[in-house]
Amino acid sequence: MAFDERKFQDIMGEFSATTEYLREVAQNFRQDLQLGLKDVSSSSMRMLKSYVGLPTGKETGEYLALDFGGTNVRVLRYKLEGDGHSKVIRYVAEPLIREGEYNYVGKGSTQVQMFDFFAKLIDDTIEGDRDTKFYLGHTFSFPSSQDDLNNAKLIVWTKEFATEGVEGEVVNDLLLAALKRRGINNVKPVAVINDTVAVLLSAAYKHSDIFIGSIYATGHNTCYLEPTIHDAKGFGKGGMILNLECGNFMKLTPNRFDTAFDQKSEKPGEQRFEKMVSGRYMCELFGMAIAELLDEDKHYDGLTSVDMSMIISDVSADLEKVAEIMSNKVGHNLELGDLKKIQELASAIVIRSARLVTASYVGIIWQRASGGTIQPQHIAVDGSVYEKMPLVQENINRALSELLGEDAAKVDTILDNGGSGIGAAIAAAMAV
Ligand code: BGC
Repeated sequence: MAFDERKFQDIMGEFSATTEYLREVAQNFRQDLQLGLKDVSSSSMRMLKSYVGLPTGKETGEYLALDFGGTNVRVLRYKLEGDGHSKVIRYVAEPLIREGEYNYVGKGSTQVQMFDFFAKLIDDTIEGDRDTKFYLGHTFSFPSSQDDLNNAKLIVWTKEFATEGVEGEVVNDLLLAALKRRGINNVKPVAVINDTVAVLLSAAYKHSDIFIGSIYATGHNTCYLEPTIHDAKGFGKGGMILNLECGNFMKLTPNRFDTAFDQKSEKPGEQRFEKMVSGRYMCELFGMAIAELLDEDKHYDGLTSVDMSMIISDVSADLEKVAEIMSNKVGHNLELGDLKKIQELASAIVIRSARLVTASYVGIIWQRASGGTIQPQHIAVDGSVYEKMPLVQENINRALSELLGEDAAKVDTILDNGGSGIGAAIAAAMAV
């Protein structure tokens, strides 16, 4: 079959984001920040206080880091050496789902199973040591409210997680209870931070001129150093880091695929921005648009963002990889013209995502500059979409230029690989 050209153009139009529209999104984002700084209930973002500022780079010592935010959990033992240097002494990582064996994140799984699993991984990392005293930093990458650096209560699961008994609980209390059940009394959790905060701490440990940290992966979120907020305990002399939870940003216009997917997602009405831009969701939008092109009333949910990445990267004359993915995952052997359209569609979804994410960064940059001069800065980003998805980094740069004009020369994004682990160790060092 050949796809209907009009229908294809219409779908492509749904995923376009003009400069004018991006400017509007950046302005709305900034306005939402301003509203939230006055009264958080009037912003669509949660703007959660992290009770931590930027590190000095001089933090030293050995710390454990538990990094949990996706379907893989990692526990690391770090040595912070100061001057931005650090070493991994031990590293353990396991998935939370092993097909046919266990699933700690799906419906029906419990907090006891999940946190006992974390305690086991911590035990593996300390190799059964019951004597040495360890301080642990915990990167917990879900919206949590806290009133100090250690007491983070999960507000709501995101990224389609559904483990029972965690929402509304203080996560380090659950961890402590699990450590006790396992007979581990020498590991003390002292800090909980979001992964965006971890990336910012990690990057700021090594470089100056970093005020924004972001995750662009399965999920999406950004934090920044807000100079006007200080904490009584003296944390954050340059201000406090705010975890925006901007995955929940609402002041933008979803297209019909965004709206239809949201309706059938685990939590309709929530995380609307994240559902438009992050890796967990771009492939869902892609699957829905493909079904529409094929005139089918189906949801192709077997496609992943890795498939999209391979589809976009296929430079072969007959688009072999695109054909293979369409045949294996969608069950259609498409002609070359249609394969080209599939490739264009994947690109359009990714480009829209990169442009919208950039608009949110610009909203923060404008807010921090408060109408004055934009400071030279790097935006620290971690995550598979930023690191590996073709078209993303070049489209971030392009959108920065479109929105910032000459000032774009002062701003760039840098990859902070693995920041979500080391950031937890730095937070632990800052806490003790
Ligand atoms: C969570 C954030 C997290 C982001 C990236 C979102 O779903 O709500 O807390 O920072 O994913 O992992």
